[in-house]
Amino acid sequence: MPRNHSTSSSEVTILRALLAHEDGYFSGTALADELKMSRVSVWQHMEKMREQGFEFEAVRAKGYRLVKQPVGLNALLIDARLSPQKPVVGFLCYETIDSTNDEAARQLAAGRTAPFVIVSRQQTRGRGRFGRVWHSEDNGNLYLSFAFRPLLPPERMQTFTLWMGVNVCNFVASYTEISPALKWPNDILFNERKAGGMLTEARIDSDQIRDLVFGLGLNINSEAANFPPEVARRAVSLAAHSKTPLDLNKLAAAVIGRVIEAYNQFIDGKYRDTFADLWNRFDHLRGKPVSLQHGNQQIHGTALGIDEEGSLIVRTDKGKTERFRAGEVTMSKKPADSKH
Ligand code: BTN
Repeated sequence: MPRNHSTSSSEVTILRALLAHEDGYFSGTALADELKMSRVSVWQHMEKMREQGFEFEAVRAKGYRLVKQPVGLNALLIDARLSPQKPVVGFLCYETIDSTNDEAARQLAAGRTAPFVIVSRQQTRGRGRFGRVWHSEDNGNLYLSFAFRPLLPPERMQTFTLWMGVNVCNFVASYTEISPALKWPNDILFNERKAGGMLTEARIDSDQIRDLVFGLGLNINSEAANFPPEVARRAVSLAAHSKTPLDLNKLAAAVIGRVIEAYNQFIDGKYRDTFADLWNRFDHLRGKPVSLQHGNQQIHGTALGIDEEGSLIVRTDKGKTERFRAGEVTMSKKPADSKH
């Protein structure tokens, strides 16, 4: 049974207060008052946090200051940064797991209250679409899965992954210096290279989606050299353009908040106008020559966008307009209407 790091709510409160006063000191008395515990107990909690790699400076008459944070993914740092107003999301953080999607499905099957999020430092059997391997070493990247119980008919969820994808792109655009794009249906690209991928899996019961798992892998801080050579050629990390590594835990908490918000908007059904705007902004394929494998046929044409159901619309080289529900698109080198 993989072990997850559960966070102590007192330690989360201490850390949240110290993070909010990162540039100064926070008084031990104020911390003790907020936690309704003695200053000695506050100090004991801080000792425990030191074991994880946190370092504090204590200055008489001023209070405490956070001077060092542990390196890499840390449950406490993510939890402390998750919005305290909306603690509706359960959160489990693992050192290592087979696949966060698999763990989310297992936890749902075991009856855990949804929504919840599974995050892991690394995955031993990270999966992508078509059963492909998603390389998931402990290298500063994010592997996380969101578990929901939407109880909606499957046709209501057709555009779910696309909606999530444009929201992730929007998040990345606002959080970093880079301009990402969404390649239908599940690739997050930057500079034509893959910066992330999404894997949505559902369990349908009596014509309703009972369990829904949305998996997201985002290359945050990995160096190209951390990937196997065949992946390194096609992959990029979000930190590629920043001089310093991105704060993994801050980013994890922010992306969790954004995904949960996007899910709620989707379920409320009030997302269509925003979806159209975001889709137009982040659609990577529009107007581009594409090839698509359909059964044993290879279709060549120009991508025109998506329809109401999220199907890709392609104007084929034979002059027909066709819609594709699923499939894998590759970008054609030649212009779509070229005869050669
Ligand atoms: C793809 O591009 O084919 C989808 C990749 C999805 C990878 C993420 S990482 C977190 C979650 N757990 C998995 O095993 N897969 C998804």
